[in-house]
Amino acid sequence: MCGIVGYVGPEKAAPILLQGLKRLEYRGYDSAGLALLNGSGVQVVKRPGKLTSLEKAVSDVRPSGNCGIAHTRWATHGAPNEPNAHPHTSGQGDIALVHNGIIENASDIRTQLSAIGYAFISETDTEAIVHLIDRLWVEGEPLEDAVAAALRRLEGTYGIAVISSRDPGKIVIARNGSPLLIGAGKNGQTLASSDAAAVITITKDVVYLDDGDYAVLDTNGYRINNFHGAQVNRSVHAVTWDIEVIEKGGYEHFMLKEISEQPSSLRNVMRGRLLEEEGDSRLGGIADHQPDLRRVRRVVITACGTSWHAALLGEYMIEELARIPVEVEYASEFRYRNPVLEEGTLVLAISQSGETADTLAALREAKHRGISTMGVVNVVGSTIARETDYGIYLHAGPEIGVASTKTFTSQLVALALITLNMGRRRHLSVVQGGAIVRALQELPVQVEEVLKLDAQIRALAEAYAEARNFLYLGRGFQFPVALEGALKLKEVSYIHAEGYPAAEMKHGPIALIDQDMPVVVLAPRDVVYQKIVSSIEEVRARHGRIIAVVTDEALELEGKVDHIIRVPQTIPLLQPVLTTVPLQLLAYHMAVVRGTDVDQPRNLAKSVTVE
Ligand code: M6R
Repeated sequence: MCGIVGYVGPEKAAPILLQGLKRLEYRGYDSAGLALLNGSGVQVVKRPGKLTSLEKAVSDVRPSGNCGIAHTRWATHGAPNEPNAHPHTSGQGDIALVHNGIIENASDIRTQLSAIGYAFISETDTEAIVHLIDRLWVEGEPLEDAVAAALRRLEGTYGIAVISSRDPGKIVIARNGSPLLIGAGKNGQTLASSDAAAVITITKDVVYLDDGDYAVLDTNGYRINNFHGAQVNRSVHAVTWDIEVIEKGGYEHFMLKEISEQPSSLRNVMRGRLLEEEGDSRLGGIADHQPDLRRVRRVVITACGTSWHAALLGEYMIEELARIPVEVEYASEFRYRNPVLEEGTLVLAISQSGETADTLAALREAKHRGISTMGVVNVVGSTIARETDYGIYLHAGPEIGVASTKTFTSQLVALALITLNMGRRRHLSVVQGGAIVRALQELPVQVEEVLKLDAQIRALAEAYAEARNFLYLGRGFQFPVALEGALKLKEVSYIHAEGYPAAEMKHGPIALIDQDMPVVVLAPRDVVYQKIVSSIEEVRARHGRIIAVVTDEALELEGKVDHIIRVPQTIPLLQPVLTTVPLQLLAYHMAVVRGTDVDQPRNLAKSVTVE
């Protein structure tokens, strides 16, 4: 949700900033802009639309300077036009600022500053910050003092980066609720970014700011203070992945690359964590907290979007195998309710990015009440990863496509590992645990088998590309898969889709079924298979077009369904991994056939850091 990048050093800043924005474009693509200190003032270039428009403008204007900031926007306040694009500047044009987040008291600040003559030219909350800095800047003091004074008056969330020709050669950055890190380069190069992806071609040494930190970056490095001016130390982390993992590597889209990476991302989430003989999992991130975990009497899982679908599957896994009661809550609901969180409750937050604002707020509410918290997170060093008491990483590598794919299946495996771990300390026998471990070991090869269905699924996408609606049905472990399949299709192909528990169809959605309604039915051979066959009959009786995802010959479906997609069979707990992959491919190919922007679907952003 908006990406920020900053550079100060001996090189020309513009190409470095543009390259950084390219890596952050998944965070928003409504507009992009940059501001440079060019020796005589602040030079701003910004354009609505995608980064390519800014790149063209920069190649025309050729802004110069070795110190600058840049931004890619996901619009919150105001339409995605040029006046609302970042950077925003002070009235004299000598201060420029970029922002990720929402300033809640912006309209009060706007009213106060307008009353004393400040002119606002955008509809954004961000513009209030830059005018406030200008207002509070005491002649002769450094930029950081004016920024710190302004920060003390702001309410809301922000990651910001500021430059000024009044105090050149430095970037001041600050964080409260929106991710921000420093790239500690060599040879006088210092960078700032919302995400390590934007800095790693220059440095892999990154320093994550905490909420309430601001930092001054220049060619001598950086120093970090809290908002009250006291110097603080934050440790340097080495990024462990290489630039290739955030390149397309020959694939047409990141989404397809990430779908195809699933055999290896699943191996990564399991690596070193399976104990076959003990029928158990070894999870370094939670090993020291076993006494706490043994006291858990109830689990509340909180998440958003695709991670929420993983949470639903986590509920089924943990209740069925570890026999602990589980509730799943949308983080956006949890944070504003008054949930019952008594002694013995564990709050488990699931997030790919580790930065989702609602999930973070839910987590903080749980912590405020003294409840133990665990995280299942992909992005190493992210806020949720740092703020949970303990947890496990997915190790899926960066996910660039806005639609989550590989991280969903990794979340399912991570939840299976947690289930195994908690279950083996309760009711799960070594034999049962061993069967789960063996099924996990087979999973990556089985996903390789599913990926071979690509051509068949592409043909299906071509056949159904004109559909206006889709229904996805599943029961038990397959119900959350139906939800996820529908979400993927909506996100990338813009076709309306609904996921439903199969047996609920007759309570309403059945009214929608006619010969124009494709219905994807998840029908692996499991305890509810015969019930699913009945649902198929009901759809067929109303002339719906049926695409069945099955796990064997499914001879009884011959002649009853229009298309059959066969995936390998595994245990019910893990079957969702194998039934999800064809649905990811279906959504992907539908989007390609319909010509949508697969990796950057309209209106979406990868990491939703505003509520
Ligand atoms: O980073 P998170 O897992 O916390 O993100 C949660 C959702 O925003 C995310 O899953 C979203 O629904 C994806 N675009 C789904 O593909």
